[in-house]
Amino acid sequence: MKATENFFLKKRAWSKLKDEILRSYLPPYLAKISHTRCPITIADCFAGKGIFDDGQHGSPLYIAKAIDEFKSQNTIAIEIDGVFIEKKYFKELHDNLCSFKECKLIDDDYENWIKQFSSENINNKRNLLLYVDPYGIKHLAFSHFKEICSMNLNSIEILLNFNSFGFLREGCRLMGVQDFESDDNNDVYEQDGVNSISRMNAIANGIYWQGILREYSNGKISMKDAERSFCEQYVNELKSLFNYVVNIPIKAKKSHLPKYRLIFATNSEDGLLLVADKMSRTWKEFDERERGGQQLLFYEIDFPDENNIEFPEPKKTIWNILSVPHDLKALLVKMIEIYGISYSESKLKAYCKEMEKDGEVIVTRDPSKTPNGKVSSSWEYKKYKIILRRGQSCQKTLL
Ligand SMILES: C[S@@+](CC[C@H](N)C(=O)[O-])C[C@H]1O[C@@H](n2cnc3c(N)ncnc32)[C@H](O)[C@@H]1O
Repeated sequence: MKATENFFLKKRAWSKLKDEILRSYLPPYLAKISHTRCPITIADCFAGKGIFDDGQHGSPLYIAKAIDEFKSQNTIAIEIDGVFIEKKYFKELHDNLCSFKECKLIDDDYENWIKQFSSENINNKRNLLLYVDPYGIKHLAFSHFKEICSMNLNSIEILLNFNSFGFLREGCRLMGVQDFESDDNNDVYEQDGVNSISRMNAIANGIYWQGILREYSNGKISMKDAERSFCEQYVNELKSLFNYVVNIPIKAKKSHLPKYRLIFATNSEDGLLLVADKMSRTWKEFDERERGGQQLLFYEIDFPDENNIEFPEPKKTIWNILSVPHDLKALLVKMIEIYGISYSESKLKAYCKEMEKDGEVIVTRDPSKTPNGKVSSSWEYKKYKIILRRGQSCQKTLL
């Protein structure tokens, strides 16, 4: 039996985490985006059954419920569509979502739906959130993202579960390069059968992956470096379509190698700040809950925090960014682009506060006083224009 055929038997820890992240993002996304007054489509592009065989809910139920709750709590007259695309398990999906009257169920492939959506909404000022959670990579032709981004939509955001190792393994097979070793035999997201190098190029949006695999094959780089380099370049391709892309490695505890990459792409600074903060909090809470209950995820997956990331100390990065004075919001965005969701917004602000206290950073606020006439020490960039610049003092660790 193919591993994917077992996927819906029981919801695995990693699926639970993904869904928690999606679920925590939906209410603030709807609250934020509804202010645009433009219609909203949330599309679950690889929807699945809706409910796992063990009774646990999947992404379609979370999306449908979030839309329902938003509509029942808000009087804003705005069209919000939940679109769910699934071919193989369409009947199950239909049965599981039938109580949500306003859901659109599509008995087709993601590829066909993208074409149809693009032709029907070419000049429609719509907001689109795509949740893209396939088994592997074979359906992820980059041209679909290009097609959607070339439309005149009001906004587009993508949350993508990207199986980077699956891609590289398939690449090894096609190029006749020795395969990556995997110590994770439980992985269900494998064996894609893409079957041609040109199709792989179409997924990666380039041939850069072939050079990376040649370097790996010649022993110049490790598989860990190959995966990192491949993802960096894939993210760069996405940055040709989106202003901001956050890339979150989901690392297996045993090997500390990323199993997957959760990638979020948006054109909105606020979207980026919101999703990074939500994901960071959700992940930490989930990790603590699982740790408390000695659940599987705690043993399976590393939280990408300071213990598991390979980037420089955050204060050093802040110091480097501040070689040019920065608005607080712009500084936070740059930190998220470097560190992903490793730090919540409040943690990043806490670093800035410490640096201000130690004289390493000078902060000016406009207005400089609170409504009560006191000197403001606020870190709320929505209320104040907050500019940070390097101070006189500088510890050795910053250099
Ligand atoms: C990883 S599962 C999705 C799990 C789901 N997000 C959840 O949380 O419950 C991937 C699903 O995509 C479906 N699928 C495979 N190829 C597809 C395609 N070309 N278009 C749409 N769905 C597809 C599979 O049948 C499977 O149900």
